[in-house]
Amino acid sequence: MQTQILKMNLSSPLKTQLEPALTLLKKNEIAAFPTETVYGLGANGFSKEAVAKIFEAKGRPSDNPLILHISNWEMLQEIAVFNQELVKTLSQKFWPGPLTLVLKRKDKVPDLISAGLPTVAVRFPSHPIALALISGCAFPLAAPSANRSGRPSPTTAEMVYKDLNGKIPMIVDGGECTIGLESTVLALHEKKPVLLRPGAVTYEELKEILSDLTLSHHQEHQKVHSPGMKYTHYKPKSRIVVFENMNQLDPIILKYKKLKTVCFTLDSSLILRPEIELILFEDALEMSRRLYSLFIELEGQGVDLILIQAVSEKGIGRALMNRILKAADEVLS
Ligand code: TXA
Ligand code: MG
Repeated sequence: MQTQILKMNLSSPLKTQLEPALTLLKKNEIAAFPTETVYGLGANGFSKEAVAKIFEAKGRPSDNPLILHISNWEMLQEIAVFNQELVKTLSQKFWPGPLTLVLKRKDKVPDLISAGLPTVAVRFPSHPIALALISGCAFPLAAPSANRSGRPSPTTAEMVYKDLNGKIPMIVDGGECTIGLESTVLALHEKKPVLLRPGAVTYEELKEILSDLTLSHHQEHQKVHSPGMKYTHYKPKSRIVVFENMNQLDPIILKYKKLKTVCFTLDSSLILRPEIELILFEDALEMSRRLYSLFIELEGQGVDLILIQAVSEKGIGRALMNRILKAADEVLS
């Protein structure tokens, strides 16, 4: 299969430019497209046949459910049953945006989307291309991140191409994603709300509305709340070592002195250490946005070791540390 790249010009009307992608999606074919978090691999969320193609292209286990992406409140009513007042409050504050809600599902949702669970995950993205695609289709788009299973979520069309070239018919290229980490997943179908996956809508922001919000703990013996959590997360070939303070740095550098090393930090005082190749980020937002693409880039350059200085787990820092710790080989504390 030839993978076509549909390059978008964000300053001209999107609907006409998106015609080729809309035609494919309406024929129950799949296409990758940008969202504000990461690129998604979209298909008609009401078609079993279309959704099956996502699992096939990604090599995704069928017991890992998908998110349905919507562009209006009516679509939400069609697919889920929920506490109207609570979801209204959350949606007024965070939608469109990087928040996914796990709700009781209606029968219209194919079993394959929910992996047989009685729930469905729903997100109302804010990216103009994602919104134009969903509105143009007039059905929700099922979309996991547009990577082969076990690879990092792509944040550019080039990353999608590297991973899925020849396996999908089209990639809508809308440039780099602004957030770079996957959406926050919040379960609302049980008595108490549970944060299943931290993201750019932060724990602190949600806690202001949901005072009984709890964090899920992913210990092995626990029941798997979010099926995606049990799968191994992407690790670059480079070894990843997470450290907290400068005192830990010299022993690591000594230990790994023969390795080609790059260090990620927010701390500009490290510039004074010319022997360390640094990537200095402005803040946790910038590190989040670039994390996955840097993993791929550095791995490609044959970097053996990526040292990452831990960031504070406040705000987006919680999501960033969650992804970094999943990728880590060694954590010094
Ligand atoms: O930012 C995002 O969420 C991106 C963009 C494309 O929207 N999508 C994304 O999808 O990250 P995916 O499939 O890579 O991750 C979805 C996560 C998985 O961990 C999955 O297990 C969980 O959401 N999930 C989906 N449906 C669920 C459900 N009914 N109950 C619990 N967890 C669910
Ligand atoms: Mg994914």
